[in-house]
Amino acid sequence: MVTAKEGRDRLIFALDYPSASAALEGAAKVAGHVGMVKVGLELFTQEGPAALGLGAAAEARVFLDLKLHDIPATVGRAVAAISRLARSQPVKLLTVHASGGRAMLEEAIQRADGLDIVAVTVLTSLDADDLAALGTQLAAEAPVAAQVERLGLLAWSAGVRHFVCSPAEAPVLRAALGPDATLITPGVRPAGDAAGDQKRICTPAQAIAGGADRLVVGRPIRDADDPAAKADAIAAEIAAATP
Ligand code: C5P
Repeated sequence: MVTAKEGRDRLIFALDYPSASAALEGAAKVAGHVGMVKVGLELFTQEGPAALGLGAAAEARVFLDLKLHDIPATVGRAVAAISRLARSQPVKLLTVHASGGRAMLEEAIQRADGLDIVAVTVLTSLDADDLAALGTQLAAEAPVAAQVERLGLLAWSAGVRHFVCSPAEAPVLRAALGPDATLITPGVRPAGDAAGDQKRICTPAQAIAGGADRLVVGRPIRDADDPAAKADAIAAEIAAATP
């Protein structure tokens, strides 16, 4: 059990809205009730750096989910550019693909200033057949989890300390990386909420018990009658489940 504030700090609200104005309205509804807001590729591509202002609207820091993946020099320069934006905007986390390789990850870490680099392991949209089609050498048992572990260890050795994985893979990654890794998991649904298009879901308490540190939650908060109250309930569940 941790404090209610710490529970809230661990909650990341995904700002999945069709327009910037709707996102602004949604962010304002949860102001002070979530630790971070997630700004994704679509919103950032559409709105540019102005999208980072949604953090202030939500009174929260920004998880900028751009999933960068390019040659080391290009990713390094992009990370440096976002670090400059982070001087005036509350950007705290930035995602890159672990599969970009060691040199890319090291460059991202080196060029990050004032924000933490988060490595995305295996996209949950990919299954073992997809990985095989990409030429990945698969382990005989639990091939996707083994690939998550391999990419997690690669990113860790490059200096990354924050990771995105599915709740199903959090225990494997926690066992591989130890207590100092920060694990961020989507696919979370409070008991009784609609799954939507999420196939493998778990409750906030289950995600925390499996080793997650921060949870990304979108539709359950966005579509609630009272988004702030819903965020409070999820934050309370996180706080109660956190050892
Ligand atoms: O609405 P929901 O809670 O499912 O939203 C979860 C957020 O996390 C969405 O922004 C979604 O794109 C993102 N996400 C996910 N599953 C992943 C990676 C990201 O649901 N494996």
